[in-house]
Amino acid sequence: MNKVRIAVVPAAGLGTRLRPATDAVPKELLPVGGRPAIDWALEEAAAAGIEEVIVVSSTHKPAIESFLSHSRRVRARFEGLTAIAPGEHSIRVRVVFQNEPRGLGDAVRLGWHAAGERSIAVMLPDELLLGGPLLLRSMLEHHARHGASIVSLAKFSPKEIGAYGSASLAGPGRSGTMKIDGFVEKPAQGQAPSCYGLTGRYVLGPEVLKVLEALEAPIASELSLTTALDACASTSGLLGIELIASDRRVDVGSWPGWMEANIATLGSLANKPPVRGHSDARSTAA
Ligand code: UTP
Repeated sequence: MNKVRIAVVPAAGLGTRLRPATDAVPKELLPVGGRPAIDWALEEAAAAGIEEVIVVSSTHKPAIESFLSHSRRVRARFEGLTAIAPGEHSIRVRVVFQNEPRGLGDAVRLGWHAAGERSIAVMLPDELLLGGPLLLRSMLEHHARHGASIVSLAKFSPKEIGAYGSASLAGPGRSGTMKIDGFVEKPAQGQAPSCYGLTGRYVLGPEVLKVLEALEAPIASELSLTTALDACASTSGLLGIELIASDRRVDVGSWPGWMEANIATLGSLANKPPVRGHSDARSTAA
């Protein structure tokens, strides 16, 4: 039994696709359904049974720390215990910093150092699963039972797949998973090995960290997580699990996705009671 307790949430990227909004507000804090996008990842992690999240942030994005130190969902901030809001999905959070945005692989490697040499989940906070924690939960269960690293895959059209790491599939794995024997990152038109592309949930064993440690980022370029996964797929083995419609994945790192997520969550926003602030407390006391 290999229970994963820690998730790394990389949040140190530049968010160039959402400029100029991200010149003022980090994309991980742009609101979806009335709360910062990263809060959806924290909620999903807690609901899936993760006990601690390591957020990889940037010193250029102090608002992320500020949000985390005020969030009622965050149970222990920067290792100091605070009150738990009863009944809420709360979670321990640590923040580490990536000095330069040197790629997702580099951010995951930094977060992993804080987690220690064990299996971790990786959750991209700009990909929301509006359907809740079921996908992550089942990835964690697969890993606990079989020990293999597992990544989430979605089916994309031939036009869309060029924006993703396209998986080369080696046949069916256990319990509805797929065996992966490699990836082609952002394939040119007609070059994708399959229509299955990497999406933002991963449960990875320490063998992936070893490969990440050994990889050198090309000068002035980024360290790619897909490159590390490609190497692991051919050596240690890697499984894929397909997203289903009820997972309701939305990429809020682009304006159409952000808009789609906000429209989809409009109903939940309408039913939410207002959150009491300091001025409410004063007027209640008076
Ligand atoms: P993205 O590639 O979607 O984010 O990375 P980005 O680079 O910020 O976006 P664009 O392309 O410039 O618009 C997915 C996640 O990984 C984080 C991002 O913050 C995002 O949450 N990331 C990316 C890092 O933490 N560090 C990096 O060097 C790159």
